[in-house]
Amino acid sequence: MNFQHYPVMNREVLAIFAGTRKKLFVDCTVGGGGHSRHILAAFATSRVIAIDQDGESLALAGENLRDFGRRVRFHLGNYLSLFEDFDCRRLNVSGVLVDPGISTVQLKDGRRGFSHSVDGPLDMRKNPEASGLTAADVLNTFPEAELAGIFSRYGEVPGAGRLAKAVIEKRLFTPWSSTAQLRRLVEEITRWHPRPGLVHPAARVFQALRIFVNRELEGLDAWLAKIPGHLLPGSRVVFLTYHSLEDRLVKHAFQQLQRLGKAELIKPFPAVPGSDEVEENLASRSAKLRALEVA
Ligand SMILES: C[S@@+](CC[C@H](N)C(=O)[O-])C[C@H]1O[C@@H](n2cnc3c(N)ncnc32)[C@H](O)[C@@H]1O
Repeated sequence: MNFQHYPVMNREVLAIFAGTRKKLFVDCTVGGGGHSRHILAAFATSRVIAIDQDGESLALAGENLRDFGRRVRFHLGNYLSLFEDFDCRRLNVSGVLVDPGISTVQLKDGRRGFSHSVDGPLDMRKNPEASGLTAADVLNTFPEAELAGIFSRYGEVPGAGRLAKAVIEKRLFTPWSSTAQLRRLVEEITRWHPRPGLVHPAARVFQALRIFVNRELEGLDAWLAKIPGHLLPGSRVVFLTYHSLEDRLVKHAFQQLQRLGKAELIKPFPAVPGSDEVEENLASRSAKLRALEVA
């Protein structure tokens, strides 16, 4: 089984969901099925709607959650359409989990182009079946100012303008096609020397392109604002974020719902992984968990 062993902040997620009706949960980003597996095991009569926009991840989750049989219903799609695809009030949804970004399996798969440390094509589309630009298309066709904006807005890349300029210069003779090419350019212009504890500078650049290619933040605001209208009072929503831009969006939206009397924030906000978890799973180090209960 190709199983993701470390669902991030799993203990905290289960503790929050323990305070609900524990009937039906929506795992908006099922990935390898790690969180769903723990939810189904912890709440014996619960069921899960498992969503992912990546068909390969959904197939993997199907394998990993096979023991739970009909307690899981799989759905290929973007969770931002959850409220159009399912009538969550009528279905009596008690909890919704969002753990976005990419899974370790996607990251390590060179064919997908998500990681600077694995060679492969510069693709980065989470759903390659759907049409859409690849990361290579963006690097090969976008004007300098737009590239700089992407690097800066979605990756907070230091020297975003300089990087954009270098991308344009390089593509004049060699089109962008591989992750290794981009990693090398970032190493060149940042004069990178690996040292223990330092994050590779290409990580922010890859993050920026991934967020842009998959339009990860588009429509998130509107989706968050819709939560109380589509979930019954007492339902809980848990949102894990891995970068500041997404976290700010969730933070402000949740605070606004509380101000409007439509939800109660669940403390502590945000919660972060303990040092034991970070030691076991380095990928959890940037996680923040925010949760609310619908009023
Ligand atoms: C970090 S992984 C989730 C890991 C999962 N919680 C586990 O424990 O195995 C993120 C997953 O969310 C999916 N994803 C990201 N954004 C999505 C979206 N807008 N709609 C549906 N799935 C999405 C990705 O394809 C990926 O499989």
